[in-house]
Amino acid sequence: MKYTLATALAAVVSAQLTQTDYNFKTNPQIDAAILDSSNVPFSNHSASFPFGSYVIQNLNFTLVKPVFDYLNATIGGLKTRGEAHITVIQPPEFDDTLKGFLTMDQVNKIVLDNNLQSTPFKIVCLGHSSQIDDLAVGVRHNVYNLIVESTGLVQIRRKVYDAFVAAGGDPSNFNPDDFLPHITVGYDERDWFEADNVYKTKHTCIKDIDIIGGKNPSLTPLDEYVEAFPTKVAGTPFKISKKVLDASNVPFTAYNDTLVQTLDKSLLAPVFAQLSASVSGLKPVSSAVIPIFSSFEFIHGLNYVLSIDKINEIAKKMNIQSAKFEIACVAKQSGSTNTGKAPFGTPRHSVYDILVKSDDLHNIRKAVYDAYLAAGGPPSNFNPDDFLPFINVAFDSDLGDLLERDLVFKHYKTCIAPVELVDDSVPQPSGAVSTVPCTTTLVPQPKATGYANGYPAPTTTPYGSKPVYASAVSSSVSVLAAMAMVFAL
Ligand SMILES: *[C@@H]1O[C@H](CO)[C@@H](O)[C@H](O)[C@H]1NC(C)=O
Ligand SMILES: *[C@@H]1O[C@H](CO)[C@@H](O)[C@H](O)[C@H]1NC(C)=O
Ligand SMILES: *[C@@H]1O[C@H](CO)[C@@H](O)[C@H](O)[C@H]1NC(C)=O
Ligand SMILES: *[C@@H]1O[C@H](CO)[C@@H](O)[C@H](O)[C@H]1NC(C)=O
Repeated sequence: MKYTLATALAAVVSAQLTQTDYNFKTNPQIDAAILDSSNVPFSNHSASFPFGSYVIQNLNFTLVKPVFDYLNATIGGLKTRGEAHITVIQPPEFDDTLKGFLTMDQVNKIVLDNNLQSTPFKIVCLGHSSQIDDLAVGVRHNVYNLIVESTGLVQIRRKVYDAFVAAGGDPSNFNPDDFLPHITVGYDERDWFEADNVYKTKHTCIKDIDIIGGKNPSLTPLDEYVEAFPTKVAGTPFKISKKVLDASNVPFTAYNDTLVQTLDKSLLAPVFAQLSASVSGLKPVSSAVIPIFSSFEFIHGLNYVLSIDKINEIAKKMNIQSAKFEIACVAKQSGSTNTGKAPFGTPRHSVYDILVKSDDLHNIRKAVYDAYLAAGGPPSNFNPDDFLPFINVAFDSDLGDLLERDLVFKHYKTCIAPVELVDDSVPQPSGAVSTVPCTTTLVPQPKATGYANGYPAPTTTPYGSKPVYASAVSSSVSVLAAMAMVFAL
């Protein structure tokens, strides 16, 4: 039903998109003074009502206003909140996740101790994001922002994450590196967020920005943190056949709202059994897959311009079933499937996965994005770079898997045990090959006589009616080889 509706809307939406005409005569200009907010007062948001607690780096709106005025003069009909900031911790991140373990005073102490207001950032471009708030109505609303980059703000988020985990928070509920910093400048209706399937990435850039009287700071490159592929994971290893790494003989399975690499489900059984030995009430998955994108990302993004058939075609052309991946660990995440709507502490469930890493599968996700862009898809409704691949193995409720939409992030800090790849293929004799010819003259065997217990001598061998033994030499070789095989098994 949804599928049909969304498909019908695709045509409407792409027609609207072509109306978007970024007819700016010049680049928007901004005073370089915006880059130093150390004299702008900290803006404290720690109200107890929902969405009242969050962290922002407060900026000087007077300096952003000319950008707004320029956009409003060019596009028209834009609104502004009359203030400017970079959100560092979003309201749902506090309300649904951090709040269970940290107070807003503790969060504020961390960010202020780390000089939030003087954290350097870089202005990347003018970005444009848009989304349809109601698929049934199909009207697309726009938001314009300055896309920024800041390693310092990511470091601050990592400090908050560390404090959250130290206080007992589940690592899967916060991803400090899932951070798309930006300065919202104006919008025609409302702002958009990741919960709306809107990603304010560098892919949404529509225009360069001129920085007047100065330039961007040079930022120190960021090291990987929660997404750094683990080289060593503590714990009792889970054993899995190394056959799982080659899915090329498993048939491709097409779904109507998602794209996956399908694996041989029977190979997950030992992992499930090992999990079930220590956790009761686990339910196994109905299929073993590595998702390339979620159905949420399809319905509120890709499907605006690409049919699932077209996507499956791309994936097959890229040999999705032969895509290679590496295994990181067995991981556990927990959360509530209605996070974002229910307060923290509503019934929580756990899910278990095998976390993987795959450039091949990531390239398929990127190729789908490229096709989506080529078909006129809005860059803001899919983030090709946000890819934490996994194989879901088990869950402890009937609600199934937990995903980013539930504020559950399958990053590598959710690993609970290593995986040991077991070679359970039939061992083959090794060494140089010398083929034994079987064309030598067959030597008729003498009829056996003197069988015990009066049984008649067999008139045929157990292998058929013709004699099986060839010349003396070759027969002994083949018998030895056969025996070697039998004992090796
Ligand atoms: C996909 O198929 C399932 C089962 O047939 C159905 O319930 C679901 O609504 C479909 N989803 C879409 C997006 O078509
Ligand atoms: C904001 O920028 C304006 C214009 O340059 C300046 O007059 C004002 O002092 C700045 N405010 C702060 C808090 O830096
Ligand atoms: C923020 O506001 C709260 C409540 O109004 C207050 O208790 C707290 O001390 C303030 N924190 C900072 C860092 O200003
Ligand atoms: C934006 O432009 C419209 C005209 O399109 C104007 O009526 C409105 O006042 C402007 N908004 C602001 C906040 O300046």
